Amino acid sequence: MAERRDPFWDVVASFGVEEVFVLPEWIQQEVQQDSVSSPGIKGDMEALEKEIAGCMKCPLGATRKNIVFGEGNPESGILFVGEGPGANEDETGRPFVGRSGKLLDRIFASIGLDRSKLFIANIVKCRPPGNRTPSAEEAEICGRYLERQIEIMRPGIIVALGASAARTLLGTRKGIGLLRGELHRYMDTPVLATYHPAALLRSPALKRPVWEDMKRLKSFMEQTGLPRTEGETNG
Ligand code: URA
Ligand code: URA
Repeated sequence: MAERRDPFWDVVASFGVEEVFVLPEWIQQEVQQDSVSSPGIKGDMEALEKEIAGCMKCPLGATRKNIVFGEGNPESGILFVGEGPGANEDETGRPFVGRSGKLLDRIFASIGLDRSKLFIANIVKCRPPGNRTPSAEEAEICGRYLERQIEIMRPGIIVALGASAARTLLGTRKGIGLLRGELHRYMDTPVLATYHPAALLRSPALKRPVWEDMKRLKSFMEQTGLPRTEGETNG
């Protein structure tokens, strides 16, 4: 299927960030203390990826083709979290490579990001059959891997894509409409929540709020010195 070009992101990408997103004090304090990077981050992530190869801890292991560990630059300090792999991701072992992923890459580009300047992972690392929402049990079991990815990365910001990611990370039942627009926290890490790119494909009206959220993210990045390392590609 040919991808219809949507000029919206091209237009917004040329705007500067006008809105200043004022950081709460608890974050301003932590920004000063943050170390730039640790030599062990990449190695620790690779070790974790090796460790979970062949995982059969939850029912999704039986039907997946490939584990989708996540990819990007784990030293960047920016972590995007989606829900779980779809068919294309299951096939390739890479996160967000289907239609949602193509849109997500354009969302990244609109604020000067690409996959070398962030890390992208999912709540569950194996495809739920038929792309259903992961069960609470699957999210909890596999969420421990995400927890370890977060411990290794020590991100300066987590962006939860969609209600499934936001609810799991924040332990809430609220939807994105209520969660977006302000900073939450996961342990000591600030979390922004926005709509999943798949929701934008269904409802183009959601592009405006997502763009607002990306401007907030951009403002946050500028104030906290993210991404931590720039211009490095990571395989
Ligand atoms: N949707 C997700 O939530 N994650 C992916 O990796 C792909 C699609
Ligand atoms: N449909 C949209 O509304 N936007 C896209 O970017 C792609 C498909």
